[in-house]
Amino acid sequence: MRTPVMEMFGLEAPIFAFSHCRDVVAAVSRAGGMGTLGTSHFTADQLELELTWLDTHTDGKPYGVDVLFPSKQPKEYENLTVEQLGEYIPKGHRDFVRDLLAKYKVPEFSKEKSEAMMREYMTELTRTHREAERRLEVVYRHPLARMIVSALGIPPAHVIEQAHSKGIKVCGLIGHPKHARKQADAGVDIIVAQGWEAAGHTGEISTMVLVPDVVDEVGPDVPVLAAGGIGCGRQVAAGLALGAQGVWTGTVWLATTESETSPEIKKKLFAATASDTLRSRCGTGKPARRLSSAWVRAWEEPGAPKTLPMPLQSMLINEAQERIWHFNVEEMVSYPAGQVVGRLKEETTVKQVVYEMLDEFTTTVERLGGLIEA
Ligand SMILES: Cc1cc2nc3c(=O)[nH]c(=O)nc-3n(C[C@H](O)[C@H](O)[C@H](O)COP(=O)(O)O)c2cc1C
Repeated sequence: MRTPVMEMFGLEAPIFAFSHCRDVVAAVSRAGGMGTLGTSHFTADQLELELTWLDTHTDGKPYGVDVLFPSKQPKEYENLTVEQLGEYIPKGHRDFVRDLLAKYKVPEFSKEKSEAMMREYMTELTRTHREAERRLEVVYRHPLARMIVSALGIPPAHVIEQAHSKGIKVCGLIGHPKHARKQADAGVDIIVAQGWEAAGHTGEISTMVLVPDVVDEVGPDVPVLAAGGIGCGRQVAAGLALGAQGVWTGTVWLATTESETSPEIKKKLFAATASDTLRSRCGTGKPARRLSSAWVRAWEEPGAPKTLPMPLQSMLINEAQERIWHFNVEEMVSYPAGQVVGRLKEETTVKQVVYEMLDEFTTTVERLGGLIEA
């Protein structure tokens, strides 16, 4: 099998994988796909360590790096410190979070731990353009990092220019054809068309409808990757049938042995069905799909405060999330996951997932070819 986007990176499989876990990224690249590391949890210094590790664990194969460039972040936030930003969080929101944690008896951290966490968070306020650009400086030092993916907005023109000058491809992740048009006009090389069933930040159009619309919108010169709800070979074949040149996946890797997903989260993932996720603004202020839990549902209830814009919402909930996870308050625990979570039933390896996807893809294409002959 060969598509132009596979040739762009010398891939053996049209499978692009998003993960925050370097082991998954390396294993996908080694298996012939394109692993892409999510960087939203890393400071520039941590990212340097991650990429140095990846350089020696992909057998010389390329990998990508995903950076958030939020498009609608209020300008006045850009040059503020975390303390100054904190003043924009209304007291009513802090009270809501405090009362919710109390209602579900989530234990508190010690004052020292709480302060240390805040200090750590201050140094890694990662969802700003300023931080995104610091991380890009790191990316440019690693020659196997062949693709930069921009989620949540168009990367600034100078970023696209700089990446191109270093021979790095730029990929834009979108959920609406009009955003695909803007990304293509801005000069990105690849578009990820991500449907609403996907994990993480997502728009309102399903993959089935979005992908062909985006393919038609950007034309044959800009390769499109289909994303959202792809976890098996039949779904890979569907993505390619819709006009994509490859697939971009996230949820399916959470169940692999290489994934750092905790045993508690894996247990929740394996128990979940396709209807156990919710698209909610409670994590970052922008709609993102995640496993449903008491925490997520509380933000949807009448009387809940309106979520805050980026990066205030994640500042507001950061410690609460850490407490819920640390003390494993099961009914409150949530995690980004797409509707394809319903297919995850047991742990498997990255290599096995890639093998099964390709195997089922082949039998699917043969089966469809047979339909025509009949
Ligand atoms: C745990 C998890 C975290 C994610 N975080 C991000 C992120 O930080 N940035 C991003 O561009 N996409 C993120 N995504 C979305 C993926 O890039 C991808 O578009 C999505 O998972 C594809 O749909 P699927 O989950 O149905 O495979 C995340 C996905 C998962 C599963």
